[in-house]
Amino acid sequence: MDESKLIYKLREFYSLELYQLDLYKAQLKTIEEPHIQKAYERFIIREREHVDYYYKKLKELDAELPKPVEAAATFAGFVSGKALDLMSLKDRYKLGVAVENKAVDMYETFIQMADTDPKLADLTDHLWYFMMDEEMHQYWFQEYLSRLEANNDR
Ligand SMILES: [Fe+2]
Ligand SMILES: [Fe+2]
Repeated sequence: MDESKLIYKLREFYSLELYQLDLYKAQLKTIEEPHIQKAYERFIIREREHVDYYYKKLKELDAELPKPVEAAATFAGFVSGKALDLMSLKDRYKLGVAVENKAVDMYETFIQMADTDPKLADLTDHLWYFMMDEEMHQYWFQEYLSRLEANNDR
């Protein structure tokens, strides 16, 4: 992969991860149930690890970080008009599923691109590990969404 393409992708993924980090940080503020709080805290630790990795990679290549607006643009379609902290738990879980689903799709594409380049073997490993994290987030949101829906149906 040529360097400009690589930088483009690293910036895109830095934005993707920053969006997730900011989203869960914003939502955590209004969550009161301890189990759910801890889940969000753990998501935040993971997303920060992801952000830091892309930050480090961009710095190594002497590349500029994307502006926050670029990060927001990646996910512009997801956030409804409602302020994040006013969303119902159900809507938060739905947003979580949608965002993590998009993240997994993006990782699949990036892995395909990086996998053929032996120089990017270490990056490719990280992409796989991070995609697993996003999958687990996605499953968690999906599971808690179904539990909520099952309770509401009773
Ligand atoms: Fe992430
Ligand atoms: Fe995630």
